[in-house]
Amino acid sequence: MIRTVMRGTGSALPKRLVTNEDLARTVDTSDEWIVERTGIRQRYFAGEGETTATLAIEAAHKALAAAGIDGKTIDLIILGTATPDQTFPATATAVQHAIGANGCIAFDVAAVCSGFLYGLGIADSMLRTGMAKRALVLGAETFSRLLDWEDRTTCVLFGDGAGAMVLEAVECDVTDPVAAPGIIATRLHADGAHNPLLFCSGGVSTTGTAGHVQMMGREVFRHAVVNLAEVLEEVLGVAGITAEDLDWVVPHQANQRILDATAKKLGLPPEKVVVTVASHANTSAASVPLAFDTAVRDGRIKPGDLVMLEALGAGFTWGACLIRV
Ligand code: COA
Repeated sequence: MIRTVMRGTGSALPKRLVTNEDLARTVDTSDEWIVERTGIRQRYFAGEGETTATLAIEAAHKALAAAGIDGKTIDLIILGTATPDQTFPATATAVQHAIGANGCIAFDVAAVCSGFLYGLGIADSMLRTGMAKRALVLGAETFSRLLDWEDRTTCVLFGDGAGAMVLEAVECDVTDPVAAPGIIATRLHADGAHNPLLFCSGGVSTTGTAGHVQMMGREVFRHAVVNLAEVLEEVLGVAGITAEDLDWVVPHQANQRILDATAKKLGLPPEKVVVTVASHANTSAASVPLAFDTAVRDGRIKPGDLVMLEALGAGFTWGACLIRV
């Protein structure tokens, strides 16, 4: 059988660090409110010359270096983003050109905060069916450029960044799919009925503008906890394991309270949850690979660990992926 194995990760952040106190100078908010309601203490915002593509390219180079793989040998690039450099072409093609993989499959996925999970699921399917052998999956965003600075309920929640993962198709005999390295199971969902709860107020075909993030925070919070717990149980069920078997959960970093509530619902000890929301805020599609890479580089996630990745975003879209590193 063909198995999708993780080879390396990388991430990138813009240069400009913005603390809650910095924001409170121009927005009617406070460090105390933001920390208490979200756990966020700071975020990074892209400056001049920094874009979704430049962040994605930096993350890609680091992931390729970690994997010890030449970019030219990548034959599939999938980039999750809601903030592309251009309306078209896909930002994935900029990454492709930068790593010298010209000619391979490259496209963007629009699943907002679940974009990286969707990318992983698609890449795993394509690798296992022989469409490609080496994939680069990324999440990269510059959400700061979609924020309404007059809306304190949303502008304090987001940040910019990028994360990348190199995956490879490996032909192997697997007797125990949970014990062997590689992606074990992925489940993805979407429900367009919830569009009014979280959306961007513009679009090419409607206003001709990018628009601004709009969110009914409380409603999103409620759905996030229920949907994430459900999809996590679903993937655990497919793998035939329980939450206790996991070494780590790498969740979408939207809000500390969502992370705590989801972990509690599943009976997961907080020390098994990778949390970076305090330093990165919500970086949408970049959030999961950025948190994953952070935990790999600081020594928490090690080869052989069983890790669950999960995210929910606008659409709603949501999903989870179980991987043996
Ligand atoms: N600073 C200070 N006060 C603020 C504020 C800010 N940045 N934003 C909102 N407030 C105020 C509100 O105006 C309201 O004041 P009022 O009671 O006088 O009307 C009060 O704080 C409570 O607002 P509310 O929206 O009910 O707060 P909340 O406890 O629901 O927290 C969120 C708001 C956004 C932090 C929370 O709903 C949340 O995290 N939702 C999920 C969002 C998310 O993660 N989405 C991304 C998923 S991809």
